[in-house]
Amino acid sequence: MRPILWCDDHVEMIDQTALPGRVDWLRSGTSREVAEAIRSMKIRGAPAIGIAAAYGVALAALGSAATEATDLRRELEEASEFLAATRPTAVNLFWALQRMKATWERQADVAGMRRALVEEARALAAEDEQMCRDIGRHGASLVPQDARILTHCNAGALATGDYGTALGVIRAAHEAGKVRQVWVDETRPFLQGARLTAWELMQDGIPCRLICDNMAGHFMQRGQVDMVVVGADRITAHGDVANKIGTYSVAVLCREHGIPFYVAAPYSTIDPKLVEGRDIPIEERSGDEVTAIAGHRIAPEGVPVANPAFDVTPARLVSAIITERGVFRPPYPESLSRALKTVGRPD
Ligand code: MRU
Repeated sequence: MRPILWCDDHVEMIDQTALPGRVDWLRSGTSREVAEAIRSMKIRGAPAIGIAAAYGVALAALGSAATEATDLRRELEEASEFLAATRPTAVNLFWALQRMKATWERQADVAGMRRALVEEARALAAEDEQMCRDIGRHGASLVPQDARILTHCNAGALATGDYGTALGVIRAAHEAGKVRQVWVDETRPFLQGARLTAWELMQDGIPCRLICDNMAGHFMQRGQVDMVVVGADRITAHGDVANKIGTYSVAVLCREHGIPFYVAAPYSTIDPKLVEGRDIPIEERSGDEVTAIAGHRIAPEGVPVANPAFDVTPARLVSAIITERGVFRPPYPESLSRALKTVGRPD
């Protein structure tokens, strides 16, 4: 289930705001349209945002009338700037844009830039799918037999090139016959768990049970959760993890109940420039997401609202970080820095 497809002169993506009621494919022919789809969360999830942004740059190159390389470079810089301004937290977005910039800088002429940018964006999407499968393979080895696994938000195929990160671990463990049931946090306020994760798991026939976010502690206390696995939007060099709002509360509950708390993410989610989780920019979204559910107002008109889209789980609560290159354990400053040295990613 690939959420975004390259179609020669445009991209098509599943409109994730219409799920699970409808599977609508949205056509975007320009980088502006891609940026709007990211901003409005028609496409969302850290790796999928990165892929969309890369395709957005490729579309900017194809749609440009520039005949000189310097003119095209200027237009691509502009396109990158407004794509980068869509959502601040997921580092994959900026990583993908840097990769596209490095690609156009290697080319001398307009035709070469266009060809290389399309190839690079497609490669990035294909690599992401492979990374998710590798994350799944590594993560499945941590899953006990007959596991009851809790996940928060949607870190599934819809959030990546395909297969998913946290759901990649669950998918691979399910393929190995290890999963008894997945607890799906509904994930207020945008309901990625209820709308997207529940839908993905049901499509694959993986047994799942939807709960409100505030029920997780109850089931942990009753001994009905064996492990938690979530995705990430940004991981600092010391292992602090930004992920969907509510993740931190789940991690604290895991510590209280002695339940392993795993984070599954590709390398591109690690931001080597940041050490402290408090320095990760946290997106603040519209209060309407909190005061209304599916367009229906549930709070009094005019009530002041806070709506941070992400929170930060400190490294000390993270049992392991599962990447395509293997499983990293604390102390993260050492394990992640050893790993980052071998990545060769742009900084
Ligand atoms: O606001 P969203 O839906 O883009 O947030 C998504 C998450 O928090 C995911 O857990 C994260 O991006 C990892 S997706 C593989």
